[in-house]
Amino acid sequence: MKILFAASEAAPFVKSGGLGDVAQALPAELAKVKDVEVSVFIPYYKSIKDNPAIEVEFVTSFGVQVAWRRQHVGIFRAVSKSKKLKYYFIDNEHYFYRDGIYGHYDDGERFTYFSMAILEAMRQLDYYPDVIHCNDWQTALIPVLKKALYAGVYDNARTVFNIHNIEYQGKMPNEFLSDVIGVGEYWRGMLTYDGCINFMKGAIVAADKITTVSRTYAHEIRHAFFAHGLQDILKENEYKIEGIVNGINTDLYNPAKDTTIFANFTSTNISGKAKNKEEMQKMLGLPVNPDVPVVAMISRLVSHKGLDLVEYVMGEIMQRDLQFVVIGTGDAKYEDMFNFNAYVNPDKMSANITFNPALANKVYAGADMFLMPSKSEPCGLSQLIAMRYGTVPIVRETGGLWDTVPPLNVETLEGKGFTFKGYNAHDMLGAIDRCIEFYHDKAKWNKHVKNLIRYNSSWKASVQEYLRIYNEIM
Ligand code: GLC
Repeated sequence: MKILFAASEAAPFVKSGGLGDVAQALPAELAKVKDVEVSVFIPYYKSIKDNPAIEVEFVTSFGVQVAWRRQHVGIFRAVSKSKKLKYYFIDNEHYFYRDGIYGHYDDGERFTYFSMAILEAMRQLDYYPDVIHCNDWQTALIPVLKKALYAGVYDNARTVFNIHNIEYQGKMPNEFLSDVIGVGEYWRGMLTYDGCINFMKGAIVAADKITTVSRTYAHEIRHAFFAHGLQDILKENEYKIEGIVNGINTDLYNPAKDTTIFANFTSTNISGKAKNKEEMQKMLGLPVNPDVPVVAMISRLVSHKGLDLVEYVMGEIMQRDLQFVVIGTGDAKYEDMFNFNAYVNPDKMSANITFNPALANKVYAGADMFLMPSKSEPCGLSQLIAMRYGTVPIVRETGGLWDTVPPLNVETLEGKGFTFKGYNAHDMLGAIDRCIEFYHDKAKWNKHVKNLIRYNSSWKASVQEYLRIYNEIM
């Protein structure tokens, strides 16, 4: 089976969030399966092109039409040792040789070009995949363009559209249809939603299958609270929606082997975890104290991640006997709030306003508890990473958080973490308090920490689900 995986980011080459992790781990896991070959297509961004450590070979170049524009496409490639996993980098310096990956005035045109270039590359490379797996709005035009511009060419290829973030849909003005996408009026209906061009809506209609990254989220997005306006079109197409939970790369995130943390530990011997806590406290300038619980938050600092709940009870949290470590960047008001609290309570709060994966690993390993009170969460990877490092999650019961963190029964130790349902700051605080109470029952706590490290969050099961879906649509 040949799978083309199209994404706007993929670690280790380029990553701004969870999509980058998934686009690294899922294709690699798929390619391990017998008779499965995967080609990942991403843009050849400046940061990749300028990185001498990334070795690529030039394959070919050709031109594509972006409506009336004739644009250059260069194809560069990197191939895995097994040869079953290939990375293709789409090169066009006008669109991608810039600082930053998103947020440019012409993102709509950049990713229209990207989608167009991928479809044309298939023909130029004489590569006819069985499945084209598209991710988020940046590649959402592929299922539409395949029908509109390549009818009869790629008819044997099936399309999957995978939703990681429904908030960004690729909404463009109506003129976009003829001026940038360059398809006839016939296709306007497929791409129009709420009076404008909407890439994601086009994919929802055109793709053979729609997936999202957890089972609960697949249900939630049929409702207005979660769907950012797309609920009606999702309801109409619900027969083709399925939720498959993300995993993490358990080799990369492995407390027994991770070289970025202070000491290694395993599910049978967690003494290294205490060492990580001690060194982390030192590094962050917090009082070194093994008995005070450390709550960590590693997140984009935006309200949708539940930051408004944290803000509402920040003062009350600071009255608890705990230490609070935050890592992340985002809205200035939240950055300021954490900085202010760190200034007022230097013994309790460590505010690290930065996006720093190496520091994050040290905190995943050193903290006792991990707070993730998201308003909505398609899947969430941080809670999986936290658990892998024996850090107890405190989460809101939504999306992938609900699917991966069943509530802990403190008597039987069934379940995984402390959860709350309503989007309410004091419900969250209640969950934090329950977790702190459990923390002081040391024997049980340590036993539970070991259980968490053992918990299997790898991609193994989900890869089988994706293969089942590919086979179904083929
Ligand atoms: C987005 C979602 C997150 C998910 C990730 C990967 O970042 O917000 O919940 O885990 O995509 O699918």
